[in-house]
Amino acid sequence: MATPSQFLKFVDDNADRFIKRLGEAVAIPSVSGDGKYRPEVFRMSAWLDGQLQSLGVTTKLVDLGKHVMDDQELPLPPAILGRIGDDPKKKTVLIYGHYDVQPAQKSDGWDTEPFTLVVDEKTGKLIGRGSTDDKGPILGWLNVLEAHKTLGLELPVNLRFCFEGMEENGSEGLDDLIKTEVTKGKESWFDGVDCVCISDNYWLNSRTPCLTYGLRGLVYFKLTISGPARDLHSGVFGRMVHEPMTDLITIMGKLVTPDGTILVPGVEDMVPSAQDDEIAIYEKLDYSVKDVEDAVGAPITLSQDKVSVIMGRMRLPSLSLHGIEGAFYGPGAKTVIPASVSGKFSIRIVPPQTPEAIEPLVKKYVEQEFAKLNSKNKLKIENLHDGRPWLADHRHWNYEAAIRATEAVYKRSPDLTREGGSIPVTLTFAESLGVNVLLLPMGRGDDGAHSTNEKIDRSNFIEGSKLLGTYLYEVGAIKA
Ligand code: BES
Ligand code: ZN
Repeated sequence: MATPSQFLKFVDDNADRFIKRLGEAVAIPSVSGDGKYRPEVFRMSAWLDGQLQSLGVTTKLVDLGKHVMDDQELPLPPAILGRIGDDPKKKTVLIYGHYDVQPAQKSDGWDTEPFTLVVDEKTGKLIGRGSTDDKGPILGWLNVLEAHKTLGLELPVNLRFCFEGMEENGSEGLDDLIKTEVTKGKESWFDGVDCVCISDNYWLNSRTPCLTYGLRGLVYFKLTISGPARDLHSGVFGRMVHEPMTDLITIMGKLVTPDGTILVPGVEDMVPSAQDDEIAIYEKLDYSVKDVEDAVGAPITLSQDKVSVIMGRMRLPSLSLHGIEGAFYGPGAKTVIPASVSGKFSIRIVPPQTPEAIEPLVKKYVEQEFAKLNSKNKLKIENLHDGRPWLADHRHWNYEAAIRATEAVYKRSPDLTREGGSIPVTLTFAESLGVNVLLLPMGRGDDGAHSTNEKIDRSNFIEGSKLLGTYLYEVGAIKA
């Protein structure tokens, strides 16, 4: 089934309007990880639901209940389930995306307002929080739907949608929803799904499209050390008492070496080393140390060897220190001894590691190291959220369809990649539905997801919308 040229032309002809719609989505600050924005996450769900309905999709908003975040009970934003098409002769594709975003403030170092989409006509960048992660890709699907509705074209497949608003915060509630939904048999919204497509990651570089068949999992820890009943003056109490911040920094300094080696005993040993055939795959990828330097904006890779740098992201675990809550933060030179501080760190995990195996190793090690300090302060370590790693069979027809679609739109074959980030629900879909999951990214490696000045290139948004549509035609062309 060739992709109709009217569809491709429609996307080109309506590019400016599609970008305006992306601007509407970016303007809703649907930050899931900060309680004060929770109403905005709800507003975003209503906006997206409205868009889907107006494009002919039947939807259901599923209430996922409540959760506690930063000691505050909050309602979870709904999952949006959608369906369009019920032709038993067609394949059924389930599409997942997330409508929540990472926090952003201009004062973090943005050049523009993060929640105002700025179109840089000179560079073609569409700049704003969520532009690439993950509002751009979600809107790519809306663009495909709109083109078909307006042109009166039949969709080549039946579509099912599952959009969530808590992905950036561990996808709370979604696993349970999917597991419950699949038990409903014929009544399930996922009944008859043949494959899953997720557009929520990025090309390795800024040139070569890719398909992704692996993701790392994650275990996120909060390590709290508390001592005095209140913040203290360091001139009055310094060297008289155990200081929580000193204890915390000492322990955080024992988690990982500056060259990335994880010091928690047992964590590194779980991962088998790469064989020659696997190394050959990494050697062939269109990705260089220079690409990493360009993406991070400085020549700071852990090695000058391309394969060892790539393996750090694709097939090795990593431990990152994220921040310290409760520490003195801000201008000036306050002479405070903070009473209670919480260090946040996470470990990206790879097969065969699981959160269940990693969590006790970390807790035991941290407790042992704290005991060595002989501190009278109190320690608490919590797992805030976790997700398992995922690997798929990239020889599956779902990937073959995406390869053909990429070749049609970009006139080149995609790289096949494993990714360092995490999308916890991927494995849940693969296991609960028993179908192949494909990651089909829209944006580029230098888009700056989670960072300041996040962007998606106009051409990635527009060609990417064509890619998503063309992929559906390629799946539709596969014989049952
Ligand atoms: N879009 C990312 C996932 C991603 C990032 C895939 C980089 C591939 C490369 C997603 O929105 C995300 O950031 N997920 C979180 C999940 C976590 C909170 C469990 C992540 O990876 O930090
Ligand atoms: Zn994302």
